[in-house]
Amino acid sequence: MNDMKPIKKVMTAPPSTKAQIVDVGFAHKALVDRLSPGGRYIDAATDVDSPWVPFGDKAAIKHLAFDVRQGIFSNILWVKGPGVVGTHLHRGTIMMVCLEGSVKYLEYDWVASPGGLILEVPGESHTLVTEHPNGVKLFGWMQGPIEFYDDDGAYVDTADVWWFINHYETYCREQGITPNPKLYL
Ligand SMILES: [Fe+2]
Repeated sequence: MNDMKPIKKVMTAPPSTKAQIVDVGFAHKALVDRLSPGGRYIDAATDVDSPWVPFGDKAAIKHLAFDVRQGIFSNILWVKGPGVVGTHLHRGTIMMVCLEGSVKYLEYDWVASPGGLILEVPGESHTLVTEHPNGVKLFGWMQGPIEFYDDDGAYVDTADVWWFINHYETYCREQGITPNPKLYL
């Protein structure tokens, strides 16, 4: 006997388009208020929420979020002209969106352009190259350690959420900037 009732109506569009706050009566709102880190907006158009932090001579990182529980870090990587981010190995999952310019990897046959989504999975190693005159800006929502290797394939260092926090906070200390609590989930 199947006593599941059939779905009467399938939503095909948002049921309300009214610009009005509706109380949805969520049963666990008190728990959310007590325990949730809360959603937030991090502005990227200016340096007020987060400055560009140099990443070598030809690139910079605008840090957007750090989650030490999940090992997640989010940022915009800006390679300022034709250049390379050398071969690295992912231990976690990466989602990036190309915002400006273009980028490719020597290991793959595609070239990412603005709006395109890049997915990277654990165990992948690859070599990032931009040949665009303005380089590339990549938004990333990234999880898990990234291992960096030198030209000879020798392991050099691991960039994980702690590395990214240290990169941000070291620059803040040098510049006399108070780290922005909004970046810490
Ligand atoms: Fe990668």
